[in-house]
Amino acid sequence: MAGRIAPHPKTDGPAVRVRAVRHADLPEVIALDATVTGLHKADYWQRVYRRYGVNGQGLRHFLVAVAGARVLGFVIGEVRDWEFGSPPCGWVFAIDVDPRARQKGVGSQLLGAMRERFEHVGVRILRTMLASDNQLILSFFRSQGLRAGRLIPLELEIGPT
Ligand SMILES: CC(C)(COP(=O)(O)OP(=O)(O)OC[C@H]1O[C@@H](n2cnc3c(N)ncnc32)[C@H](O)[C@@H]1OP(=O)(O)O)[C@@H](O)C(=O)NCCC(=O)NCCS
Repeated sequence: MAGRIAPHPKTDGPAVRVRAVRHADLPEVIALDATVTGLHKADYWQRVYRRYGVNGQGLRHFLVAVAGARVLGFVIGEVRDWEFGSPPCGWVFAIDVDPRARQKGVGSQLLGAMRERFEHVGVRILRTMLASDNQLILSFFRSQGLRAGRLIPLELEIGPT
């Protein structure tokens, strides 16, 4: 991945900082996710918090961008070893920024913080997956230097026809 991730947010008002999620952040995270997906998935987010927030130090990361007490966005990722024959790589599997705080560098700051954590443990590849019709997230990841990699996704619909 090329090194485009911008370190400095373009926000007015309180400084934006990225830190590990806290349990008290979850209502805002859940509400933010609901603005993007239309679904209020409280149980799901409690599970994600237990897996990536509480026990996540080291190889799993659930980070939030905050300005004062307000959560502006989050990113979740983890180091995965030897999947698909690949050396340890950093997977980013969720990133969301509050629509009111977008295009001010918050997404870049979140991804940059995740990248730093991956690099800290020696990871040299950052990966993600996205819906092919989601132009916004594609534009964002491309702006951060991500390009098509050597793995391709395959899928099969299973279950009763
Ligand atoms: C994608 C997302 C995280 C970007 O967050 P952000 O804080 O707005 O991103 P940044 O301000 O750091 O933007 C960085 C770059 O991304 C690109 N980008 C961001 N928003 C864009 C938009 N609306 N249109 C085109 N490109 C855009 C630009 O290249 C931008 O660089 P620039 O500011 O120099 O033009 C945010 O729009 C979002 O949460 N979208 C919905 C999330 C989603 O669909 N998630 C899918 C499941 S994981």
